[in-house]
Amino acid sequence: MQRAPGALFVVLEGGDGAGKSTQAALLAGHLQEHGRDVVRTREPGGTPIGEKLRSLVLDHGHGEVDARTEALMFAAARAAHVEQLIVPALARGATVVCDRYIDSSVAYQGTGRGLGTDEVLALNRWATGGLRPDLTILLDVDPQAGRHRRTAGAAAEDRLESEPDDFHARIRQAFLDRATHDDGAYLVLDASLGVDELAGRIAAAVDGIGQAAGSAP
Ligand code: TYD
Repeated sequence: MQRAPGALFVVLEGGDGAGKSTQAALLAGHLQEHGRDVVRTREPGGTPIGEKLRSLVLDHGHGEVDARTEALMFAAARAAHVEQLIVPALARGATVVCDRYIDSSVAYQGTGRGLGTDEVLALNRWATGGLRPDLTILLDVDPQAGRHRRTAGAAAEDRLESEPDDFHARIRQAFLDRATHDDGAYLVLDASLGVDELAGRIAAAVDGIGQAAGSAP
């Protein structure tokens, strides 16, 4: 893949209600203040086809969605996202800040739905042409705290969110296992820390790898 000097691919991961979207917005703001070209995006989504797949796979009311179909829809949305948005952004030297990526499929479909880590990793490596993040920030959230946070604004829970607490507890462990066993770079943070504290630690870590990649502010 063509990648301009200074390009960075940063992913935020974690259970539902971890505060990823808030931190993605703060990180994007921090990088833009320092003059970086930032593309902030999310999965599933980020492209027209990805947004359609998002509503197909997450909204209630499309009838039964079996585990393999679910995994394939997330992977299809991801393939379009990488090809149409992420790779072009990295090719021009941008920093991509992405809310969820392959580890979400490994945790939710591999462990949560029982499809298996290796199978889901293989599917997603194929779907993405093997594109891996430069840094994954895992916001580790207690499932009950996460549910409390995401239902506080009276927002309805989507198909995955409405799974029981033990499903979310297994997902939490699966994310932690990825951070321990994968050979990529991970920053694991306790999601119960204050918003500003988390934002400061995330900004420092991303500035650090940015310096290493020659894109420091
Ligand atoms: P998210 O956008 O984080 O939810 P929200 O914006 O409502 O906070 O993610 C949507 C849901 O999709 C979430 O429950 C996790 C699930 N998901 C998977 O199961 N597999 C995947 O590969 C991805 C990207 C998300």
